[in-house]
Amino acid sequence: MDRKITVIGSINMDLVTQTNIIPKIGETVMGEAFHTIPGGKGANQAVAAARLSADVNMIGLVGGDAFGEEYIEHLRSFSINTDNVEPVTHAKTGIASIILAEGDNSIIVVTGANNLLTPEIINLNEKTIAESSLVLLQLEIPLESVIRAAELAKKHGVKVILNPAPFQPLPEELLQLVDYITPNEYEAELLLASTAQPDILKNKLIITRGAQGVTFHENGQMQHVSSYKVEVKDTTGAGDTFNGAFAVAILEGKTVREACEIAAAAGALSVTKLGAQTGMPTRAELEAFLAERKGEQHE
Ligand code: RIB
Ligand code: NA
Repeated sequence: MDRKITVIGSINMDLVTQTNIIPKIGETVMGEAFHTIPGGKGANQAVAAARLSADVNMIGLVGGDAFGEEYIEHLRSFSINTDNVEPVTHAKTGIASIILAEGDNSIIVVTGANNLLTPEIINLNEKTIAESSLVLLQLEIPLESVIRAAELAKKHGVKVILNPAPFQPLPEELLQLVDYITPNEYEAELLLASTAQPDILKNKLIITRGAQGVTFHENGQMQHVSSYKVEVKDTTGAGDTFNGAFAVAILEGKTVREACEIAAAAGALSVTKLGAQTGMPTRAELEAFLAERKGEQHE
């Protein structure tokens, strides 16, 4: 059996400015450093899964510009299949303008080419979806394309994980199509408040709570997995790392609890380095970290 993860989602170049002072409107301040780093929730999740040696397809769009070319090369360097990543000549690669101050970030996303990923393009990728074992989705592409992708996945019996970020209200039909939905604490509140039948979400909901760990439902009971204490450099992409690692673990037949534990560890490692993808662990790094931390727990 092919055990492929197909990630359908955004590809952004992150333009990261490190500063000690955040400027007010109309103010100019001197910053510390500037970095151009690959990001975008879709591509981040694809890289997180590929780092753990999963076989990954990326479906997404870049612009017909230098960022787009660079990004496709970047994905290939992780052995991610980019046959379905198209450069759109009349659009720009999505960017995220990120201000990083003391480990906290504020982000402005300009979607660019990502916004042109239509349901028609998703349809053209039906074969890739059908041949995978798991589809991983976020909300940085048009919602109707996310829905179409989930429909096609279900049609072919492929598991679906939806990371509802950045949050927007979701139609019930989409919630019914997904196997797991992975909001952070804030998104979970909005999701539960905007859903007429929150019961649909039971047993699908995995809530990431940063330092407070992860909560999920099992047999109608609330379960909790703790997070790991690490030195935080940059939290950008921590949720994406969690999702990529969670998808790999689920694909490998781990229980939801085990998958949450593994994914929480991957997320923790990711925040120790600047850049969305920079700290994402390899399988060996993740296993070493888990072994080390397990040792600590027994002390
Ligand atoms: O989840 C983090 C990502 O959100 C960043 O890489 C940025 O591109 C934004 O899309
Ligand atoms: Na990082």
